[in-house]
Amino acid sequence: MASVNSLASTLQQQLADALTAALPDAGTADPLLRRSDRADFQANGILALAKKLKGNPRELASQVTAAIPAGGLIKEIEVSGPGFLNVTLADRAIIETLAARAADDEGRLGVPYNSAAGTTVIDYAQPNVAKEMHVGHLRSAVIGDAMVQILEFTGESVVRRHHIGDWGTQFGMLIQYLIEHPGELTHEGDGGEADGEAAMSSLNRLYKASRALFDSDEEFKARSRDRVVALQAGDEETLAMWQRFVDESKIYFYSVFDKLDMEIRDPDIVGESGYNDMLEETCRILEESGVAVRSEGALCVFFDDVKGPDGNPAPLIVKKSNGGYGYAATDLSAIRDRVQNLKANTLLYVVDARQALHFKMVFETARRADWLNEDVKAVHLPFGTVLGKDGKPFKTREGETVRLADLLDEAIDRASTVVREKAKDLTEDEITERATQVGIGAVKYADLSTSAARDYKFDLDQMVSLTGDTSVYIQYAHARSRSIKRKAGELKSQPHPELELAPAERALALHLDQFAEVVAEVAAAYEPHKLASYLYQLSSLFTTFYDQCPVLKPEVPGDVAENRLFLSDLTARTLHQGMELLGIRTPERL
Ligand code: ARG
Repeated sequence: MASVNSLASTLQQQLADALTAALPDAGTADPLLRRSDRADFQANGILALAKKLKGNPRELASQVTAAIPAGGLIKEIEVSGPGFLNVTLADRAIIETLAARAADDEGRLGVPYNSAAGTTVIDYAQPNVAKEMHVGHLRSAVIGDAMVQILEFTGESVVRRHHIGDWGTQFGMLIQYLIEHPGELTHEGDGGEADGEAAMSSLNRLYKASRALFDSDEEFKARSRDRVVALQAGDEETLAMWQRFVDESKIYFYSVFDKLDMEIRDPDIVGESGYNDMLEETCRILEESGVAVRSEGALCVFFDDVKGPDGNPAPLIVKKSNGGYGYAATDLSAIRDRVQNLKANTLLYVVDARQALHFKMVFETARRADWLNEDVKAVHLPFGTVLGKDGKPFKTREGETVRLADLLDEAIDRASTVVREKAKDLTEDEITERATQVGIGAVKYADLSTSAARDYKFDLDQMVSLTGDTSVYIQYAHARSRSIKRKAGELKSQPHPELELAPAERALALHLDQFAEVVAEVAAAYEPHKLASYLYQLSSLFTTFYDQCPVLKPEVPGDVAENRLFLSDLTARTLHQGMELLGIRTPERL
């Protein structure tokens, strides 16, 4: 079935038509429709129009009102204030529109699917080989995963790229150490969680030991430097050793992503090393086209508006004077690959805001080289820093960066206390399962519910709270609706457009109808926090509805009960779908 036009968009169209009919000189005018407290909607567009036409706004407003077709969508329309229009919709139209959403046979709740949408390559969840994942890696993974789901839901083809840090001089040191101390990176396992931890701890040990030797032993340092050269030259033994680090790290990454309840696919992990063969060519093209120039031996790109602290131009260095390639060369090569081979229309980077200048320079360079142009755009979706309760970047009590795995464990632990208190009739297994869904959901939701660019405080107490803007609150609203359904027994979930709606039913219904528009907006602007806030509002409207409009009380007439069950069901489906797009589970019972 095709997508369902929302009440707001149908109304917008009718008002725009009425404007044109009443005021042919107005051209195409926007009625500026908003939700309103006094009626369902308010149209504010006539004021500006009256100014333009030098007319009396209240008079123009009445003319527009007269041009509105009677019956159908609109129950009441009145001119108010200096020339606003207050619009109340017909109850019948509201329920019929929701019935169409519910009946969408693809289960998409009437959300449009644009099969002719473009291709987005999204760069997210990019930890570094042989290094612990910390709280900073959480945001890229969580925001990126939500954007993948949201974009795919709207019809966009999405190619995922995990640009892991798997290349660079530190591998010379690690590999050299491993060659001199074979047997240090051995552990066997099944790829499970404990296995991931074991992999990381052996990597950590190796890292510390090799670092200590590197700092204290000049000869080892020299051998390590030679090893980097061998690695870059593609020496087979060296590459094989390097691969062991990558494989071991992946065991660890997967265990953390698994805990995050996030699917990461192996072919999508294309780290820095994956662009190795392109680096030389990238530099050659940039130099030949004059985009990059030699400066003090390095290959550089300059920008008028980028200066260092000393006031001198701070270039993007594509190739260092010692011949080494850096982060920029890799990112520029990745752009070529993503545009030319993966046929991207959009490149989306979910990366820390502190890398904004890097991406600004890389994108501008790619534009000058014509890898990016009107047909292909690049967007940095920057995220802010995770802060501790003290408002400073989140650290452990010892002042160290917080390990992501520890953080997730703690969240699950807190959540199990909450779940245990609330649900007395759950088995231990059920408690563990729910606690994981609640705890991981809480961490993801806290991350997604503030706009990405802002910093936020990591506060587990607040995150797993049952009241306020949390995922648990939304999960409870969902579970409550599912429980109504279970208890409803024979009662049919059935829309009754002929009924008059109570205020709490109306408010819930109008909000339900906005789902498709919110998804479209969130996909277009890369703003998952707006979906989070929509779902929170939906849950809170449902809570009011639940208090004021009983479904299962014997005194409620049958048709009213059926209609309420219908609204409750549609709420559960919308919450479930919305949370799924955010990567958060909605258990049937809580
Ligand atoms: N690995 C990097 C880090 O941990 C993030 C990579 C971001 N992506 C990119 N294409 N540069 O900070």
